[in-house]
Amino acid sequence: MQHFNLDRKIARLILLQRTEITSPFLKRLRKFFGRYIFTSFLSRFLFFNTSISRRYYDLMFKEYNLLNLHLDLSNKKILSIGSGMCGLELLINSNSKNNFFTIIEKNYVSKKVKYGWDPMNNEAYNNNDLLKSFLIDNHMKEKNFEIFDFDKDKLPVKNYDYIISLYSLDYHYDFSIYMEYFKSIFTDKTKMVFDTIRPEYFKKIFEEVKIIQSEQKSIHSSKRIICNKLILD
Ligand SMILES: C[S@@+](CC[C@H](N)C(=O)[O-])C[C@H]1O[C@@H](n2cnc3c(N)ncnc32)[C@H](O)[C@@H]1O
Repeated sequence: MQHFNLDRKIARLILLQRTEITSPFLKRLRKFFGRYIFTSFLSRFLFFNTSISRRYYDLMFKEYNLLNLHLDLSNKKILSIGSGMCGLELLINSNSKNNFFTIIEKNYVSKKVKYGWDPMNNEAYNNNDLLKSFLIDNHMKEKNFEIFDFDKDKLPVKNYDYIISLYSLDYHYDFSIYMEYFKSIFTDKTKMVFDTIRPEYFKKIFEEVKIIQSEQKSIHSSKRIICNKLILD
């Protein structure tokens, strides 16, 4: 498999979740019409599904390879927070054996996506029904995953080997939103991977913090960190 099976509705969500996939032509349209018109109208009609699918696949494969260097990805219970369309989880599922995924996402698309820091955590770009069908269409078995709506569902209190949140928790919205929940699920063995612009801050929250990637972007530069041993007081 060198690309994902997807339709236009899913391609639209992927473009909103991963702006680097946007072609120069679409970027010019977004700049010209503004984010509101782009998100609400143009993004519904303009996509070239095959090239988006390939670019998303390649990007997720890069993410998979990076995580695979630092984590043993077989036989694990994985909690994915803000996983978007779960391309990474699909690649973990097909390349590493015997995993179970718990996915927490928001189930709506904001009117105007701004992509900055979102203090109220109102921004969202997903649809959990489409996410479920995308996973099944790309060969993840229903017995290997569960999806929770962050705004409506009671979050599952279970232990996880890994918690993964790429470009979501503490990249767009504050880590503290999940702090009480984490206190109820973290064990000494749980490792968490996420992107943040303030890795130093997390040395007060976790006993161990390791930077595995540094990103230099025009809006802000972030680090990807792996943390373990949540400090509970
Ligand atoms: C920039 S996208 C990143 C998606 C994916 N992790 C990736 O790397 O492609 C951020 C995602 O976080 C989701 N999100 C926003 N607030 C959330 C929350 N409180 N809990 C879970 N997901 C959230 C959005 O709906 C969106 O899909």
